[in-house]
Amino acid sequence: MECFVDCVIVFVLTEGAWSACVSRVSVASLERSGRAKWLKARALDSSAEAARDNRMLSKAITAYLDLLKMNEGLSDEKLLEVARRTIDRINFRGVYLNAEPVYRLLIRRFPDDVHYRNNLTVSFLMANRADLADEVLRETLRLWPNDRVALAHHGFVLKNHYNKLEEAVQALKKALDGDAGQANEPRFYYHLGDALLLLGRFDEAEEIHKRGAELGHFLSPSQRSLYNVPRLRSKPWWRVEDTPYEKLARALEASWREILKEGEAAKTLYEKEKEGLKERGEWSQMDIMVRGREIPGRCARAPVTCSVVKTEMAASGCKRGQVKFSMMAAGTHVRPHVGPTNCRLRMHLGLSNTKNTYIRVDKEVRQWQLGKTLLFDDSFEHEVWHNGTGTRLVLIVDVWHPDLTPAEKRQLPPI
Ligand code: LMR
Ligand code: MN
Repeated sequence: MECFVDCVIVFVLTEGAWSACVSRVSVASLERSGRAKWLKARALDSSAEAARDNRMLSKAITAYLDLLKMNEGLSDEKLLEVARRTIDRINFRGVYLNAEPVYRLLIRRFPDDVHYRNNLTVSFLMANRADLADEVLRETLRLWPNDRVALAHHGFVLKNHYNKLEEAVQALKKALDGDAGQANEPRFYYHLGDALLLLGRFDEAEEIHKRGAELGHFLSPSQRSLYNVPRLRSKPWWRVEDTPYEKLARALEASWREILKEGEAAKTLYEKEKEGLKERGEWSQMDIMVRGREIPGRCARAPVTCSVVKTEMAASGCKRGQVKFSMMAAGTHVRPHVGPTNCRLRMHLGLSNTKNTYIRVDKEVRQWQLGKTLLFDDSFEHEVWHNGTGTRLVLIVDVWHPDLTPAEKRQLPPI
């Protein structure tokens, strides 16, 4: 055993050395013992970490799972230690479904602890398997009908995956009623408010948004983005003269006819809006830049647009925004919604059929004009109506919020 341990320490970096080591000691008996499995998994884990090697990490995960199969042979303490590390590595590797057997084991060993069931739910949601999450949630809520974390997740699943809004509201309300405890999370307030807006229950939505803001989950009842830098100036509408982006706005305005032609010439590249924000009508968009990167080939289709946008790094390099054309058919209504972050401002350039089209940001409604820009903060609630005729086209250019520091612009994770 001593040699075994030494080998692990000495040869921790390579798999080849590992095999050599294993074959030198009494392989068969050790392989079968929990300790050997543990050491093997640990060795692979450390090697993977040192070499930042994902293949090796997958092997470590397999080795941990193999060890966990011994289940009965492991003490509660050991099972928890191994399970925690295994789940941590599974999440790091992003292979969320692999966590299922680990959680099933924990649920079997600790049947009175609801928190393992809730974590299994989260793993299924991370793996985009709302159907599996729903199964676990139903079982959890059968056993713990008042568990707030399970109720909140169930509300989220009912709303976002099954479009059962009434049931979603009931579950989320029960989860967040009074002291929400462990369910006191911004996203649950966000989804409850959003479900109420979808149902047209505006007063109730407003109550939830107020409560969410009081609890510090939202910047204010109407500014409900979830990825925020708190100190940034907050206002729904901006004057471009009060920002460093006046030159960009004037350059876009000066080229608006060419930009319009480029937006109209690329009609085959538009994609329908998929987030369910459109209450009626037709709304599609063509991305040119997303998260500070060009969609390959798009600038060749819109060269003037790109050349203007690229004069402003805060636009072309805005990792929390997009540059896109937005096309809306007459009769379209985009329901009240908020963007994901307060780190950007959104510039619109009116290009076609702007008559009788309206955009409300927070409390103030404005209109587009051909060849003119608007600037607003889309982390505030906003809503759009096309009550005119013909297809309305605008160019949308997101720019970094002017209060962000260069370091923040470099370091903020993209959205
Ligand atoms: C929005 O950001 O939701 C809208 O302003 C988009 C659009 O095309 O008007
Ligand atoms: Mn929007």
